[in-house]
Amino acid sequence: MEGKLAAIADAAKGAIAACGSLEALEEIRVRYLGRKGELTELLKSVSSLPPEKRAAFGAAANRAKQEVSALLESRKAGLSAESDARRRKADALDVTLPGRRAWVGRRHPLSQLMDEVIEIFHGLGFSVAEGPDCETEWNNFEALNTPRDHPSWNLQDTFYLEKPPNLLMRTHTSPVQIRVMESQKPPVRIIAPGRCYRRDAIDASHMPVFYQCEGLYVDRDASLADLKATLTYFARQLLGEDVKIRFRPHFFPFTEPSVEYDFSCVFCQGKGCRVCKQSGWLEISGAGMVDPNVFNKVGYDPEVYSGYAWGMGLERVAMLRYGIDDIRLFYQGDLRFLEQF
Ligand code: PHE
Repeated sequence: MEGKLAAIADAAKGAIAACGSLEALEEIRVRYLGRKGELTELLKSVSSLPPEKRAAFGAAANRAKQEVSALLESRKAGLSAESDARRRKADALDVTLPGRRAWVGRRHPLSQLMDEVIEIFHGLGFSVAEGPDCETEWNNFEALNTPRDHPSWNLQDTFYLEKPPNLLMRTHTSPVQIRVMESQKPPVRIIAPGRCYRRDAIDASHMPVFYQCEGLYVDRDASLADLKATLTYFARQLLGEDVKIRFRPHFFPFTEPSVEYDFSCVFCQGKGCRVCKQSGWLEISGAGMVDPNVFNKVGYDPEVYSGYAWGMGLERVAMLRYGIDDIRLFYQGDLRFLEQF
């Protein structure tokens, strides 16, 4: 029995010394000191010894048990400390590593350009007016002197909302003119940037959703010369002193006379190239003197007041400015494109 006790105790001590993890140490504890552990069993067997041997063997076995227990405890403390140290080392902050820079996004090219446009007109005393994307027929067409049989009234060309009273997605930002004039007296000096909607098939130059920036000036003696000066100033601010501007007669229901205006091609300086289709000019949008009928609809006296208005397609200006030949690029969210701005 004594020999067996010594062998078990030695084996336990050796295992504890060689053990490398807290889990393995726990296994050793169970193996020797658990309820059915080898030392535990040996202690239980003391009762089966002849009485004269019990005391000595019992004392020896208890001593062995206490030794093993103490070794287990101290090994446990050592292993915990080691594993703490290892974890601390693994988690340690290496201050010599180069930092990771936070990824910073940027404004969409159309937003950037819109800010620039607004800034330029701010400089001329225009302030920003806004209206809802969803409009009434009155604001979008009727008050703008647009006859019922005008193509854009057509259900085919305009997104109407399903429920009466015939609300629609605005086809231009011109209804903001009406909102402003119906809510304030002249003088008026506003620009109206915003989204517009038309039932266009998507291709390189058409999107069913796009941006315009309308402008409106109303006072006692506004003239076509003022309109030309305003747009010329704008063109030079945006595209440089050398840009030329051209006005061509046109028709809009809400302006009379009406023009379309073009900027000289910024890519070939008007010589003719692929972008301007050899014409030397890039078409921007429409403009004109506010039609007296529009003033009548909003309660301004056309005998006293005159005004000019102009439109602007933001994507178009952006495409001209950056030499982009496909409008879809603005709406695809492709970072390779967007990160260039
Ligand atoms: N609203 C017109 C369009 O969308 C542009 C325009 C605005 C024309 C103001 C004249 C005056 O085509």
